[in-house]
Amino acid sequence: MPTELNHCIETVRTVFVSNFGHPTLFVQSPGRINLIGEHTDYNQGFVLPAAIDKAIYLAIGKREDKEVHLIAADLADSFSVALNNLSFSEKTWSNYLIGVVDQLQKNGYQLGGFNAVLAGDVPLGAGLSSSAAVECATVFALNELFELGLSKIEMVRLAQKAENEFVGVKCGIMDQFASMFGKTDAVIQLDCQSLGYNYMPFNQEGIKIVLLDTRVKHSLASTEYNLRREECEAGVKIIQEKYPAVASLRNATMQMIQECLINTDQKIIDRCSFVVAEIKRLQDACKDLEAGDLKAFGKKMYETHDGLSKLYEVSCAELDFLADFAKTEASVLGARMMGGGFGGCTINLVEENAVEAFVLAAGNAFQKVFGTEMKPYIVSIGNGTSLLDENVIF
Ligand code: GLA
Repeated sequence: MPTELNHCIETVRTVFVSNFGHPTLFVQSPGRINLIGEHTDYNQGFVLPAAIDKAIYLAIGKREDKEVHLIAADLADSFSVALNNLSFSEKTWSNYLIGVVDQLQKNGYQLGGFNAVLAGDVPLGAGLSSSAAVECATVFALNELFELGLSKIEMVRLAQKAENEFVGVKCGIMDQFASMFGKTDAVIQLDCQSLGYNYMPFNQEGIKIVLLDTRVKHSLASTEYNLRREECEAGVKIIQEKYPAVASLRNATMQMIQECLINTDQKIIDRCSFVVAEIKRLQDACKDLEAGDLKAFGKKMYETHDGLSKLYEVSCAELDFLADFAKTEASVLGARMMGGGFGGCTINLVEENAVEAFVLAAGNAFQKVFGTEMKPYIVSIGNGTSLLDENVIF
């Protein structure tokens, strides 16, 4: 077990025991990467994410009363609320847990009071979906604790809805799905329309997944995210006037965009063009993966970045710089910004023996231009949300 993992579990265990006594169970829920297929999930397209070996750890136990007492051990912060009086809090972290409680209650599930402590090593605000990891950990733990009988996909939907309704970000289903359904050494090819999915082996032999965190956190991220979604929906509405069967951009074509959106705001044309191209690109990229052609796959990652930056306008100078820098390095097969955008990480597929040199060179170049340090993470693909064996913990 890596030391960091031990450290997080140790923290959660110690804080829980000293505040609440012995916990009933422990859950781990990972962050995620996404190889290709960005901003396609809420357009009913495809995505290609995977869970990573960085996770949120949660210890939980019942209370006698009808209250929820939470501690974020990493932040040394706590939050308490009554089950019949849930409300949005200034303490951002608590909303991801309380949002899940709210969704469960709204859907008629009976909960009792509980105590929970969480900690983790998913970098916050880096685009690795620490929030989805917290939501999935919470719904999974509550499902076990109160024997709610939820299936994995029901938990994913509840977690997503918690984020949509309680937190207020109109995210798609990718992050929660990847966190819950992740599997070691496989990427998940998820059809966000049917929710059909397929584990594709991702042969990492000789290749490392390197994330370069710009450490830029734009406060506009959630507003702009919701706006992109609206822009896509606006495009679909216009296309529907001529093609009523087109329910989402998943079913639209470039030809429809050219034909129907000609008199529309250029921004709407650009957003829709990116999404339609990205859905197709992912399907082609999966063929590259099947053929073991990571070079061709990597080329498509660069194309995705270009579209996200120029057409979808969710990149920033720091992300563009890192993607451009990667392009000049022969040891990098592909790179692009990852996740919602406006900061966070680039994802890079790098030849194993060149990782150290690449990270160093990128860091130096970044520092020279922006005067700040970027942070590298080398990740591997791990399993989804699960119970932790108590014997490992105590
Ligand atoms: C965020 C959202 C996801 C997805 C990505 C962009 O991570 O939570 O649902 O839309 O952005 O692909």
